[in-house]
Amino acid sequence: MHADIEKILLSETQIAARITELACELNNLYKGEAICIVGVLKGSTMFMMDLIRKLDMPVKFDFMIASSYGERTISAGCVNIYLDVRMDVTNEHVLLVEDIIDTGNTLSCLKEYFISKQAKSFNIITLLDKPERRVKPIKADYVGFKIPDQFVVGYGLDYAEKYRNLPYIGILKDSVWQDN
Ligand code: PRP
Repeated sequence: MHADIEKILLSETQIAARITELACELNNLYKGEAICIVGVLKGSTMFMMDLIRKLDMPVKFDFMIASSYGERTISAGCVNIYLDVRMDVTNEHVLLVEDIIDTGNTLSCLKEYFISKQAKSFNIITLLDKPERRVKPIKADYVGFKIPDQFVVGYGLDYAEKYRNLPYIGILKDSVWQDN
């Protein structure tokens, strides 16, 4: 285990097993119909790549960069879109992939954005959900794990751009983020 990690919250094995279950649910939902998968960079990348390899329908994928913070570029209501999808999602089944829902600000704005683009259907899948932190009343359609309000990193999630490459999800030691 990495020295900055207090405890492993979700092991590689637990994550892989849950992804297999989620993929099975999605395969049943879409029943072979083509879908457009949109990953919200950067945290969702590992989850998305592991998930799509277990899907059996035709899949196109693309990425977005969106943040509620920083310099404004294209506005989708309350979120800034720094990189938009290039594929046309009009009349397509869109599955938005997130690593974590925290306040819900990002996803509630992106949901409105995709509805305005007239997707045929719009579903959200997130690996992690911190319901205690929610400010906006958004719910993901598919959730990997509900987790407590603790600072987690790994498997795509970062602190100051570090730890994304850890193969598990761990709780970061308080001393690491409180000292910075
Ligand atoms: C994280 C996460 C979500 C968002 C969730 O992204 O990937 O997009 O925050 O927070 P919210 O529910 O409070 O809106 P972040 O901005 O940390 O970017 P990253 O994925 O590149 O680390």
